Amino acid sequence: MGVLILTEKDLRTILDIDIPSIDAVEKAFAWLSAGQVSMPPIMHIEIPEHGGDVDIKSAYVKGLDRFAVKIGAGFFKNARLGLPSSPAMMVVISAKTGMAEAVLLDNAYLTDVRTAAAGAVAARYLAPETVTCAGVVGAGAQGRYQITALAQVRQFDRVLVYDRERSLADQYAEDMTRMLKVPVAVAGDVGELVAQSQAVITCTPSKIPYMDPDFLHPGLHITAMGGDLPEKQEIMPKVFLKADIIACDVRAQSFSVGELYNTRKAGIDLDATRVLELGEIVSGKAEGRQAEDQISICDLSGTGVQDTAIADFALTRAQGLGTRIQE
Ligand SMILES: NC(=O)c1ccc[n+]([C@@H]2O[C@H](COP(=O)([O-])OP(=O)(O)OC[C@H]3O[C@@H](n4cnc5c(N)ncnc54)[C@H](O)[C@@H]3O)[C@@H](O)[C@H]2O)c1
Repeated sequence: MGVLILTEKDLRTILDIDIPSIDAVEKAFAWLSAGQVSMPPIMHIEIPEHGGDVDIKSAYVKGLDRFAVKIGAGFFKNARLGLPSSPAMMVVISAKTGMAEAVLLDNAYLTDVRTAAAGAVAARYLAPETVTCAGVVGAGAQGRYQITALAQVRQFDRVLVYDRERSLADQYAEDMTRMLKVPVAVAGDVGELVAQSQAVITCTPSKIPYMDPDFLHPGLHITAMGGDLPEKQEIMPKVFLKADIIACDVRAQSFSVGELYNTRKAGIDLDATRVLELGEIVSGKAEGRQAEDQISICDLSGTGVQDTAIADFALTRAQGLGTRIQE
């Protein structure tokens, strides 16, 4: 047996943002809703001397033969050293023996895929059927992955992007017009972007919310995926008062980081029964969008069960790839 080592390059050859990877992540949400998942809270380690921090996420799924432990870091001085600023890896462990099966040195590629796939699952059940214009706030890595995933589940004619750094938005428009084969234009501000879009994805690490309730219009879906820490917030709390459907990946975590955490902290009562989990929607226990004119919002902070699902899925495609180390 031994331990299989796969690099980012290996993983990029076997895994893409496509319907099979979106389906793999959708299955993970269904497992959560079926009570099949044991998922501890995120473990967070601060390393202030070097401006770094490390998050550890994991989940065991009853019935799966293996599970992943993801060690994801943020070391923002790494750029000076020519190293990635978000190094990450997953260790895949046998659920039967506790032995390591694989080490996935993905530099956060698996996280990017599973996060984009979660965005596509949210859009599949919550976005209106007709999306002519899609909006992306934040022209970084997730801005690119999320719109690629959205294109798998909705056919839009054009994209608007906004980034506080105009040059990044311009580059995004050029790159993504080529990749998506639909026109991508830069919006002057978030209000203009939302006004013209039926599906909007917010992909920034902002600590100052910018999505204003006055921007909302009937038939709008928003996926907010940037807020994965308590101090991050993209959506103004009063936006949630205007939403017909509020969803998240997992309530317990969403009430402790990001949008729903900050909204409740601002005194807005988000009764837990009003906030649906994606797992409840994909497994038919709760309804997603029921009418084209509803306003829906989904808050994603990223869960360990998505990591286990994508690692397991990647390994099913890894035949012959990587290096096997015998113990
Ligand atoms: N929910 C999840 O599962 C999950 C997974 C991965 C990353 N994330 C989070 O998503 C966010 C985006 O990640 P990324 O890898 O794309 O980051 P990135 O650094 O590649 O891109 C972020 C972009 O947002 C822009 N930006 C920042 N603040 C802005 C603002 N107020 N208005 C407009 N643009 C703004 C930046 O200029 C940058 O271009 C981060 O907060 C990251 O931690 C969440």
